[in-house]
Amino acid sequence: MEISRGEAEGDPFQVWRDLAGRASLAVRNLVEAVSRQGEPEGLLGDVKALFSEGGTLRGAADLRQAIRVLLVKPGVQALLFYRLYRRLYLRGLRLLPEFLSRLNYLLTGAEIDPGADIGPGCRIWHTAGVTIGRGVKIGRDVWILHNVTLGGRGASPFDPGEEGYPRIGDGAILYTGVTVLGNVEIGPGAVIGAHSLVLDDVPAGSLAYGIPARVVRRPGRH
Ligand SMILES: CC(C)(COP(=O)(O)OP(=O)(O)OC[C@H]1O[C@@H](n2cnc3c(N)ncnc32)[C@H](O)[C@@H]1OP(=O)(O)O)[C@@H](O)C(=O)NCCC(=O)NCCS
Repeated sequence: MEISRGEAEGDPFQVWRDLAGRASLAVRNLVEAVSRQGEPEGLLGDVKALFSEGGTLRGAADLRQAIRVLLVKPGVQALLFYRLYRRLYLRGLRLLPEFLSRLNYLLTGAEIDPGADIGPGCRIWHTAGVTIGRGVKIGRDVWILHNVTLGGRGASPFDPGEEGYPRIGDGAILYTGVTVLGNVEIGPGAVIGAHSLVLDDVPAGSLAYGIPARVVRRPGRH
């Protein structure tokens, strides 16, 4: 058997470091291999985003870091939990996924309805107060900060108000405290400033903020 340099120099942990390195490389290769079969979706897309440029792991294939992220990053935990009960929901179950979404809220502070459709690569940077309602559609690689609320425009749960729920385009960023209500489309790559209330569509690539939110920069100007 080949003896690594650390082992030869008497470093007892080198063999574990080598093993961890190999395991993380294997995980990355597996993700790459499955991704090549088609577009990465759901859980796979989340894992890929973690290892991507700008991801929490900043591209490093380091198993220890991956474990750390799983243990301490509530946004990752909330999304993984959601992926699990969303799958059950899509299979027609109702009570169990709703109960698991309740547990998700208790554990992470994010209330994500199993009926919300969240694309791959989503990043929830802080989970406190994040509320994503049934019927909401979120594209790929969207960033969500704490206290973001996405839901219907009705005045009460018994009055759903105008039909329709927010649709968030690929790569959009919703900063802290953003509330998007009703049949509203946030275009791909749009950025919504902190504590904005969005009641109308926001064009792709633009920056909007305020109550109610107004577009302050058009595409290509930020
Ligand atoms: C929207 C945002 C991205 C814009 O950043 P920016 O382009 O650098 O804008 P500036 O800071 O230069 O501000 C430009 C103007 O917009 C105003 N503005 C910026 N963000 C605003 C907001 N969310 N609501 C209302 N007005 C806002 C500023 O007061 C300033 O007004 P002025 O020109 O009259 O002085 C940024 O303000 C923001 O909201 N960031 C959120 C960050 C966040 O959520 N952090 C949480 C970390 S845990």
